[in-house]
Amino acid sequence: MRKKILKNMEALCAEAAYDLTRIISTAIDHRGEAHIFLAGGSTPRRLYKYLATSNVGRTIPWGKVHIYFGDERNVPSDDPDCNYNMANQSLLKWISVDPTHIHRIQGELSAEEAAEAYNNKLKYCVPSSANGLPNADLIILGLGPDGHVASLFPDTDILDNTTDYAAAVWVEKLKTNRISITYPVINNAENVWLFVSGEEKREIVDKIFNYHTPGRYPAERIDPQGILTWYLDEAAAYRIDR
Ligand code: 6PG
Repeated sequence: MRKKILKNMEALCAEAAYDLTRIISTAIDHRGEAHIFLAGGSTPRRLYKYLATSNVGRTIPWGKVHIYFGDERNVPSDDPDCNYNMANQSLLKWISVDPTHIHRIQGELSAEEAAEAYNNKLKYCVPSSANGLPNADLIILGLGPDGHVASLFPDTDILDNTTDYAAAVWVEKLKTNRISITYPVINNAENVWLFVSGEEKREIVDKIFNYHTPGRYPAERIDPQGILTWYLDEAAAYRIDR
């Protein structure tokens, strides 16, 4: 596990953007293309906007990158709450990604239908490793104040799903269905990022780093076969060691 604590969001995005260029370059060297998963949320959105407007972002050979999503709300693709819509407005429509390489979760379907369709998409589009699981080059995750990642919320049955790659989940606290990738996919990735900023995340970051109890928070069950990197600004990392 790597921990990168940067002074502010601008520095955090610059560091992550540079690291992204290296992950994508390595993936293209190894398999001719890169397969990366985007997260929803306001913090990941800041990174996407940085990638769309920075010189570093412009160096990325987006035509060789496949884009997936870690989770999606059960809404149409033009809904303001849609993670694909957010990523498209902040990044995808500004870069030369091949539209056929954007693999969104079809939130306009029922949650179960969308999850089944995405399960198949992950099976057939993401290269698999020897264990047969989808082998993403990078999965970007945000962190909720309750320790959720993607739509793996505390006390939901998806946390124990070890058979599907993507599943529907009812989130009682939000009174809504979500579609999310599962731990088998996340923990089979070459790289997993937790991209976290702001004072409002200080407490959950403190609990995870200073009072680690395996399995207490969904984020604590992220244990990839590849490299886990936490990107934190100083506001979120205020109570933890550098
Ligand atoms: C979503 C995201 C979710 C998000 C975290 C962090 O669909 O909302 O997938 O997991 O990444 O809640 O979001 P913020 O960065 O906005 O706090």
